[in-house]
Amino acid sequence: MGKHRVLTGITTTGTPHLGNYVGAIRPTIEASQDASIESFLFLADYHALIKCQDPAVVSQSTREIAASWMALGLDTDQAVFYRQSDIPEIPELTWVLCCNAAKGLMNRAHAYKAAVQSNVENGADPDFGVTMGLFGYPVLMAADILMFNAHDIPVGKDQVQHVEMARDIAQRFNHNFAEVFTLPKAVVGDDSSVLHGLDGRKMSKSYNNTIPLFLSEKQLRKAINKIKTNLLEPGEPKDLDDSSVFQIWSAFASADETRYMEAEFAGGIAWGEAKKQLFELINSQLAVARVRYTELMNDPSYIESVLQKGAERAREHSVPLMAKVRESVGIVPVG
Ligand code: TRP
Repeated sequence: MGKHRVLTGITTTGTPHLGNYVGAIRPTIEASQDASIESFLFLADYHALIKCQDPAVVSQSTREIAASWMALGLDTDQAVFYRQSDIPEIPELTWVLCCNAAKGLMNRAHAYKAAVQSNVENGADPDFGVTMGLFGYPVLMAADILMFNAHDIPVGKDQVQHVEMARDIAQRFNHNFAEVFTLPKAVVGDDSSVLHGLDGRKMSKSYNNTIPLFLSEKQLRKAINKIKTNLLEPGEPKDLDDSSVFQIWSAFASADETRYMEAEFAGGIAWGEAKKQLFELINSQLAVARVRYTELMNDPSYIESVLQKGAERAREHSVPLMAKVRESVGIVPVG
């Protein structure tokens, strides 16, 4: 059978930050260069609608995320790079899967449960603010995955449950109708791929502690200066373990550079100096991509043409898969 297939989606609700780069963009681009795998990467704009009702944010984010991946060297001739909403078979499959996904399974989804729990704690109706989109989110994600018969799904820890649900739904469909779907498996990066944010917690848009990926040099320097440190003076040895400056350094540094900074910490490097070096390290790795990013953002019709080509390639898979699904469930010509 075909090559090992890896698929992942990026929800288009924000501006990519250094945490996205270290945790998802960089490893996924690296993996997509491996000739023995087939990468499917897509902009999950239907998923964006679940959390975001601001059209300008959804469209701007879609453009920024596409430009970021392209600027950072994603080979869009090799990887299949597309936008979820350009594949009409995805919402079509979502419906069929909805009819095969137990409501009780969805009741257990973390995101939905968290929303209900916070309503209960606030004395509100348990379903306050809960849309069918939020409730059915895992089914849409299952359709994304199962549509392309993907084997491995690289995701953050918070998404593992959704991949397991996709597997469940696939198993149930295969059992009830026909062996149509490959059973997918979540692949979670190790903890070193989770970058610290400005306040030392995981860098995440929801904590408001991010450093956007393509700031200007000046803004990047300023942002790095805001990383929280302790009050130790220059000359006092500094602990590696509780330092976000060091954690972020190691995410960008070679093994040699990491050892170098370890020694500097032991030798009492001043925080200002450590941050200056951190800025230089990160900036040197992003400078070329930043120029390319700006060019792409100024040429959105080029980005669009790349996405359209990606959609065409994706549909070479989704159209026949959907035909198989329709046939399996009895949606066939009458004569
Ligand atoms: N829900 C994922 C997230 O928020 C994004 C996503 C949508 C996804 N569809 C997917 C990831 C399919 C992997 C596979 O991170």
